[in-house]
Amino acid sequence: MPNITPEEHLAEVLARYSEVPDARLAEIMTCAIRHMHEFVVEVGLTREEWFAGMEGLAAIGQMCDEKRQEFILLSDTLGVSMLVEMINHLAAEGTTEPTVFGPFHVDGATRREMGDSIVVDPMDADEPLTILGEVRSLEGGPIEGATLDVWQAASNGYYDVQDSDQTPLNMRGVYTTGADGRYEVRTVRPVSYPVPNDGPAGALLEATGRHNWRPAHVHFVVSAPGHKTVITHLFDRESDFLDSDVVFGVRDSLIVDMNGGRCDYDFVLEPAA
Ligand code: BEZ
Ligand code: FE
Repeated sequence: MPNITPEEHLAEVLARYSEVPDARLAEIMTCAIRHMHEFVVEVGLTREEWFAGMEGLAAIGQMCDEKRQEFILLSDTLGVSMLVEMINHLAAEGTTEPTVFGPFHVDGATRREMGDSIVVDPMDADEPLTILGEVRSLEGGPIEGATLDVWQAASNGYYDVQDSDQTPLNMRGVYTTGADGRYEVRTVRPVSYPVPNDGPAGALLEATGRHNWRPAHVHFVVSAPGHKTVITHLFDRESDFLDSDVVFGVRDSLIVDMNGGRCDYDFVLEPAA
């Protein structure tokens, strides 16, 4: 076989993927292969670096189980998860901006009445906070029957699923609006917290000189019949790390006042069609 250039090699590899039956798979595979080949050439990847990369990916896989998804954490810390949100949920002007979902959502959280608290296990450091406002449509008007799925880390910086001392479903609740579209969630002021750094994604943060902290936030998934669901957070304006969120999730429109025990925020949803 004659010597071939990296460009000719890429062309040969792509040719072998030219008859993938599924058109979308073909598009994704050929684009990924092209970018990977160009990356290897551009950085002049050594054999040792390639092998370190393979070992790193293997270590990430070995860290994954039903509770821990280290690949998603890697995607989050590289800003890829946020990019996927950005291109898939182009928010219409005036609607609530989306941000990362994160790995700590739990299906089937307790259904609560408006004004109920999500705090099952009070902690000494708790600073009471009520988050309240309206869920309304971009077309104007309150939305009846909107669901707010709310979760946050406890005042010790851990989610219930990370901390066996917490009651399962602590700091979680699902609320449904009435005819006035109003919601009211009693909770505690969120704290900034570190994402897990005991695995390969954390080691990569360390090696690249990055911290592993998220600014204080409360998660929401807000959905309503006939409207696009928004996955988002509210961030505390007084939190550290707003400018350096480890997963790049902060958006100016989601930074709100949480001092004085009260936080006012209206969620605006875009009609579905
Ligand atoms: C979170 O906010 O729960 C989260 C998001 C991305 C990575 C880790 C945690
Ligand atoms: Fe979070």
